[in-house]
Amino acid sequence: MGSSHSSIYLASTACVLLSSGIVWQKVCISPPEWIEELNTLGRPKKQKLPGTAVVCGGRYVAPVVDVPHPSIHYQSIAGTVVSRLLADHFDRVILVDPELLDLEKPKTRIMQYNATHAVLSLFTDGARRLWPNFDAELRAAGGRSVYADIQLHYSGIAVPAPYRDYPGARLPDTLGMRRSETQKVLYGLLMQHPTAANITVWPGTVRGVEASDNQSSIRSVTVRKLDGTQVVVHDIGLVVDCTGRTQAGIKWLETAGFSLPDNLRSSYNPNIRYATICFSVSPELESRLPIPEFAINSVCQYVHTQHFTYGLSVNVLMKTDNNTMQVMLTSSEDNLPRSVPEILPFISKIRTHAPLASWFVKTVEILCENCDEPSFDNIKIPEQSYVRYHSVPTGDLPSNFIAVGDAHIQLNPVHAQGFAKLMLNAITLNSVLHSLDPRVSILPGDFSSRYFKKNDARTKGLWEATRLHDYGSPACEPMAGETRDTGRLARWFTLKLFSAASQHEEVASVLWRVRNMIAADTALLAPTNASSFVPV
Ligand SMILES: Cc1cc2nc3c(=O)[nH]c(=O)nc-3n(C[C@H](O)[C@H](O)[C@H](O)COP(=O)(O)OP(=O)(O)OC[C@H]3O[C@@H](n4cnc5c(N)ncnc54)[C@H](O)[C@@H]3O)c2cc1C
Ligand SMILES: *[C@@H]1O[C@H](CO)[C@@H](O)[C@H](O)[C@H]1NC(C)=O
Ligand SMILES: *[C@@H]1O[C@H](CO)[C@@H](O)[C@H](O)[C@H]1NC(C)=O
Ligand SMILES: *[C@@H]1O[C@H](CO)[C@@H](O)[C@H](O)[C@H]1NC(C)=O
Ligand SMILES: *[C@@H]1O[C@H](CO)[C@@H](O)[C@H](O)[C@H]1NC(C)=O
Ligand SMILES: *[C@@H]1O[C@H](CO)[C@@H](O)[C@H](O)[C@H]1NC(C)=O
Repeated sequence: MGSSHSSIYLASTACVLLSSGIVWQKVCISPPEWIEELNTLGRPKKQKLPGTAVVCGGRYVAPVVDVPHPSIHYQSIAGTVVSRLLADHFDRVILVDPELLDLEKPKTRIMQYNATHAVLSLFTDGARRLWPNFDAELRAAGGRSVYADIQLHYSGIAVPAPYRDYPGARLPDTLGMRRSETQKVLYGLLMQHPTAANITVWPGTVRGVEASDNQSSIRSVTVRKLDGTQVVVHDIGLVVDCTGRTQAGIKWLETAGFSLPDNLRSSYNPNIRYATICFSVSPELESRLPIPEFAINSVCQYVHTQHFTYGLSVNVLMKTDNNTMQVMLTSSEDNLPRSVPEILPFISKIRTHAPLASWFVKTVEILCENCDEPSFDNIKIPEQSYVRYHSVPTGDLPSNFIAVGDAHIQLNPVHAQGFAKLMLNAITLNSVLHSLDPRVSILPGDFSSRYFKKNDARTKGLWEATRLHDYGSPACEPMAGETRDTGRLARWFTLKLFSAASQHEEVASVLWRVRNMIAADTALLAPTNASSFVPV
């Protein structure tokens, strides 16, 4: 959730470019390639690629009889999206995910299962291409279709979303739902789609991979199944690491003898804690909440992001599915509320330039006074990391290995980019696959490099922008070789941008598009009239 955008790393070049005229403007404001590429997402390829695509990190529902919480589902969002799109390119897709009864790992539940998630519109745009019935299923499960407006307030000051750029003020929309419910909907969609005929789901863990004789590709994948037996999948077409934070691919490749550079993985620690407080709110109570009309149908009703010099605190009110509402609070210290009486005192101590909206505070107060005991989910966010696969020389990476989602890059979750970023990875993967010569019988030797390089160009700005922003917080521990001073200029530029966006619609519009990943970060360098954007 929160405030960052993906261009500040370009700040140092901004001044030069801002003055360099019309040609640059055109480049800056034309929609990025990946928006065009959305058109082929979900389009099956006539001639499928041979071999099996193995997606590592899928989903398994534990049998009802054996577990205390049969409704708890484990699932990689990246694995679900990637399995669906790979079924357009391969005849056989296998999804593997560890499951509850694996005694070695009794609790493989991902830690953000109950955490507040705001989903940016690019994720929804992509999901609609993959599953034409996405909206219908979302609504049937109690989810909300909402404007992709997080109602951002930076240090108390509103940064508006560009409703005026869209006919009828119809800002692109996205989903408003708890993450746990979103996962279920996505898995249901995957299994209902006609391509499910060619997707096999295996509860289990990927244990490793084996290299081909000349180390140019992966020949087989070893899976440990539920009952402890090991199964070897031969005839591998593609292996996709969707293991999230585990980033298991690095270990698989090293163990199989591929030589990876020492500095492959970079990481830093923003040191933040994240509390999600989930209330059950009856329609009657909801009608009494002082939420302004303009905020009701947006993805978040209120987001407050602290100026980084005060800390990395982000505070959110979000209406989710089935009469639930979440209040999210973050902090660099171990001081987050764990009970109802601690909530308002915490909120009253948040340091900011302009005060938090009084209706927000009042709403939280009414929820605290009138709802049954809410659930508290307090977690500490571990370090964030980037596995720089794109920097591995082409011949050193197996041609048929890629990573998608958090297995490749993790971003500080307060910026709410995880789902949209993995969709951007998926769009890129799909377009690289569609661009192959239809006559090829195996993936070309540079397939993996092509994918990672294209991805790096599209997502490194997210990594740079969020990391450098976080360095502004006294609690942040920078990446090796950097200090908290790194990125000072970028942070200065961020502040200028937020300040300009709070006063000028045009700037707010560009900022909103970049944050929703429907414009490239270069757009922030183009001083132009927002109405010349092509709406998507
Ligand atoms: C507190 C928090 C809040 C967040 N808020 C937002 C938000 O508001 N908006 C947003 O867009 N994003 C948010 N994110 C980020 C988002 O949750 C992630 O980007 C997203 O879950 C990444 O999906 P993934 O599929 O890559 O990984 P995950 O969802 O972590 O899934 C990884 C899967 O891999 C499986 N696995 C692990 N090892 C193996 C193995 N050896 N073999 C097979 N399977 C394996 C695991 O069981 C798991 O199911 C948040 C994250 C956190 C932590
Ligand atoms: C999520 O919440 C449910 C219900 O409150 C709980 O049973 C489960 O353990 C929680 N999961 C995680 C990962 O915290
Ligand atoms: C949410 O509501 C829908 C329909 O109203 C229902 O089908 C679904 O089971 C509910 N989900 C939860 C988690 O209560
Ligand atoms: C599934 O694979 C078979 C070949 O094994 C192919 O003929 C069929 O079109 C595929 N089905 C779908 C829905 O993609
Ligand atoms: C590796 O071997 C395969 C055949 O098994 C061959 O097609 C490929 O060109 C070889 N690659 C290199 C880099 O030698
Ligand atoms: C942008 O251009 C349109 C017409 O070209 C004009 O009506 C509008 O006022 C301009 N907006 C800004 C912010 O300059």
